[in-house]
Amino acid sequence: MTSATAPGYRRAVRAICVVGARPNFMKVKPVMDALEQRGAEVILVHTGQHYDPEMSSIFFEDLGIRAPDRWLGVGSGSHAEQTALIMTRFERVIAETVPDVVVVVGDVNSTLAAAIVTAKAGALLAHVEAGLRSRDWSMPEEINRVVTDRVSDFLFAPSQDAVDNLKAEGYRGDQIHLVGNVMVDTLLANLERARRRPIRKELGVEDRPFGLVTLHRPGNVDDDAVFDGLLGALAEIASDLPLVLPAHPRTRSRLLVHHLPEGIMVGEPLGYLDFLALEASASLVLTDSGGVQEETTVLGVPCLTLRDTTERPITVEEGTNRLVGRDPDRIVDAAREALRHRPPPRRPALWDGRAGARIAEVLLEAPSRHRLRPSARCDGAGAH
Ligand code: UD1
Ligand code: UDP
Repeated sequence: MTSATAPGYRRAVRAICVVGARPNFMKVKPVMDALEQRGAEVILVHTGQHYDPEMSSIFFEDLGIRAPDRWLGVGSGSHAEQTALIMTRFERVIAETVPDVVVVVGDVNSTLAAAIVTAKAGALLAHVEAGLRSRDWSMPEEINRVVTDRVSDFLFAPSQDAVDNLKAEGYRGDQIHLVGNVMVDTLLANLERARRRPIRKELGVEDRPFGLVTLHRPGNVDDDAVFDGLLGALAEIASDLPLVLPAHPRTRSRLLVHHLPEGIMVGEPLGYLDFLALEASASLVLTDSGGVQEETTVLGVPCLTLRDTTERPITVEEGTNRLVGRDPDRIVDAAREALRHRPPPRRPALWDGRAGARIAEVLLEAPSRHRLRPSARCDGAGAH
């Protein structure tokens, strides 16, 4: 923790940054650094939603994130159990530390739980990655995004489509800040280091084309028929192109009871640098991840998203992503097509490595840090 007051700021701002699950770590790092560089005192809280070393501590090592100041140790559970436990334990942290602002990132249960507690406890709430919408209410993340935005004071949007969503839902202009993509900050800061990793050699794909696969959405892996269909499509693709599948724990347990096709190298989840090294040099990525759609866009690597919707349409409109759903024939055809045409990298506006700095500027330079939560008229009736 640092607590100096930077020149030009009236007093040190105390900020809590909350992390819990894998996609949070690479998003919080640039925000935390930028806040601390500007003299804010940062308290890092890890809820413990993800706890296996390869889902959590490896990211602290790879990205140089210091150990969390508070570990809530909530572990796994049903949505209600997990959310409730985070809320109960985070409420105590807020009461003890009395932060000026709480920063939450993304759309996982830790994001939602910390947001609700903050909104009732009186600190200001900043949501990084605000405004993304899949409009698919069967995904728990969509509920987490919408509710978190609704109780936030600062809405940090990664792209213009997210700004447009927020405006259409009636949020005031003074809450919304188009700052770019923090995940891209971390990618650009680590790409050269990642390229030097020996992971491709270790997997035997140093000198030959390969595809990279990630799967973890409940809608894809928990349903036997859907999962078998996806494995069948991967088997067919793997007959031409070896596939590497670092399996998320949810998927790993499902693979134990399903037939694993040949040509697919299944392993543990990878750390950030090893995964980025593979992602940057893959001929094709097949995924249902949110963050991987963004990273492949910046890297210019063709990405097939095995879902019907995306909360990140800019990766389709301006990037390398294609939504191909779950139909095995469609996935195989799309993979063959993607291997024929490699699109050039096109980086969306403000995905430039400076999103964390923009967020810190807003949070620390706000003339008065007053509450900006939406008024009672935030009802979808249009921008205020
Ligand atoms: C969570 C997020 C999802 C995100 C994903 C990133 C929610 C609702 N979902 O999904 O948005 O894309 O993380 O990876 O927040 N498990 C372990 N070890 C761990 C963590 C989990 O074995 O370190 C197993 C447990 O059996 C657990 C299951 O994975 O029940 C699911 O974990 P959970 O955090 O509930 O959801 P994810 O599927 O990881
Ligand atoms: N990632 C990783 N190792 C892996 C799979 C993914 O480091 O084995 C990284 C990936 O590069 C991206 C982030 O994890 O930065 C995406 O997280 P995830 O797919 O778990 O969640 P989502 O983005 O879907 O919420």
